[in-house]
Order: sequence, then C-alpha cells, then structure tokens
Amino acid sequence: MNDMHTATDSGTADPAFRRDVMACFNAERRAIPARWLYDRAGSELFEDITGLPEYYPTRTETALLEKHCGEIADMGGHGKAVVEFGSGSSAKTPHLLRAVEPSAYVPIDISGDFLRDSAAVLQKEFPGLDIIPVEADFMDDIALPDAIADMPKFGFFPGSTIGNMVPRTSIKLLTNMRRTLGENAMLLIGMDRIKSEDVLIPAYDDSAGVTAEFNLNLLRRINRELDGDIPVEKFRHVARWNDNYARIEMHLEAQEDMDFTIDGHSFHMDRGETIHTENSHKYGQRDARLLLRAGGWAPIGEWTDPDNYFALILAEAQPFHDAP
Ligand code: AVJ
Repeated sequence: MNDMHTATDSGTADPAFRRDVMACFNAERRAIPARWLYDRAGSELFEDITGLPEYYPTRTETALLEKHCGEIADMGGHGKAVVEFGSGSSAKTPHLLRAVEPSAYVPIDISGDFLRDSAAVLQKEFPGLDIIPVEADFMDDIALPDAIADMPKFGFFPGSTIGNMVPRTSIKLLTNMRRTLGENAMLLIGMDRIKSEDVLIPAYDDSAGVTAEFNLNLLRRINRELDGDIPVEKFRHVARWNDNYARIEMHLEAQEDMDFTIDGHSFHMDRGETIHTENSHKYGQRDARLLLRAGGWAPIGEWTDPDNYFALILAEAQPFHDAP
C-alpha cells in the first residue's frame, strides 16, 4: 500500500512522528500520542473495529443519530453550515445532513486523500449541497472557508473522538471550536459513557484480535518509517480500565527482555514494561456536561440508548460573559 503519507525510509518520515517516537523511548514512562496509530493501515483497521460485535460505540451512535436527527435538527436549527471535525469516512453524516438541510457542509480531516474521496462520495448523494473539504488537524487553529463566513454554524464531532484527549486538551479543543464556529453556533458531540468493565474491556480487546492488530501496527509503522528493528511478535496488546482517570488505556507490553534500535539509536525494554499508545476517556452524564461548559458550550439536549452506553449531546455556544 502506498500513499503520500506513507514514508518508505527514515529520511522521509514525518519529523513530528520521529520526534514523538524518540521522546517516547527516551522517557521514563513510554507513551506515544494516539494520532500516530492512524496511518493508512491503522485507519483501515479502525474502520474494521467499528464493525466488530464487541465494539458498541459506532453502531450505538449511528442508531441514535438515525432515530433522533429530526429532533436534533429542529433544536439545533435548519439551514446552518455543518462543520465536521475529524470527518474520516463521513459515514454517519448523511443522517444529519438530511435532517439539518445545511447551506454548506465543511468536513475537516487530517488525511487529505481520505477526505477528498469521502467528499466525492457524499457529493453524489447530495448533488445540490455545497461541500467544501478542509485538510487540517482539528487541534490547530482552523480558518473556515470564506464561503461560510456569514452563515451560522452547526459543529459535528461524533465518534467519541474527544475521548482520546485528556480533559485539559479536550477543553482547549472545545474552546477552539467555540471560537472557530462563532456566535450562535451549535455543537453536536458524541461521548462514550462510563460502564461496566465487562463491556468496556472486550470492546478494546476483541476476540478476533483486530484491536490488537491496530495497536501492533504502530510498531510496524515505526520499523518501516523510522528504520527500526523492534521485535513486534514479542509484544502483546493490552487494554486496561484506569478507574482513577475513567479511561480505557491501550498499551503494548514486552513479553520478554529485549534490545532494539530505531533510526540507529539503541533501546532496551524489560519484560512486563509497556508503551502507552491510546486513551479512551469515558464520561458520566454530569462529567460530560461539565466538560462542555468548561469549553464554552451550554448543553441543551441529550440523547442516549436504553443501556446508557453512549450519548449524543447538543450544545450551544455560550456568550463569553454569562457569569453573575
Ligand atoms: C476513535 C478514539 C473513538 O476510543 O473508541 C477503538 C479508538 N481504539 N478501539 C475509541 C479505538 C481502539 C476510538 N476512537
């Protein structure tokens, strides 16, 4: 598989990837930002995860959108410009677009080729809709297209992507979204609820081993792009619930003592040591509302499934001075 983001030797690897990997293996506690899991192979494996029987979030959220998009659009407002953060395959978007009947749709994604392909597919389904893709990291300050400058905005941030971030970073992102989307904006966000470990652990450690492959792919990526010789087969995928932080953590655990090199640098790991590769924070009802308010958004509507596994929350931009 070859695309413009796939580097074939260490000379062409993304410098930010190299920096994060080197920082990880030189640190006392090894951790790599989760975004590096999502190269082409990783993104495809994640798409596979969304269809697994144990992975409840995607189908639960999609069902919520299907069932409640009419009410959501009535509350959020028709005809606004829909701006989706981290749109990926835009798989859930048609339900919302049909209900909101937006004046324009702006999908934002870091993966340019994926973004353009998805936009083209969507354009066929909505021939009259003005679709304006923006290739950007939604963590950066984003300049929205001039064409939607004067339209009120309807932000869409599904998939519990916010769970990847620690609360401090989430609040920064929500605050950025608030500024980017402007006065009178709405935000529809998907957040995964805290629930039993009996449900959570299998969702992140499935019986078919797809999540394990997704996690191990990071080591393969390091070996390929940063000229490493990490013995991938000696690592094991681990998903644990960290109750103190209310999050699922994915780790890669060394199953024996080992030495390896990355980009000519030598590293050692003892058996049992791990690399922390992803967080997936879960939010109770009040946690979710507090997080949104801390980022400048007032929740005005909430939809959840009968098991209370997943929540869609609609929030409106708070005025900047609303305190007594
Ligand atoms: C893409 C961050 C929403 O946390 O559920 C799924 C990522 N990792 N299985 C999640 C993921 C392993 C997913 N998010």
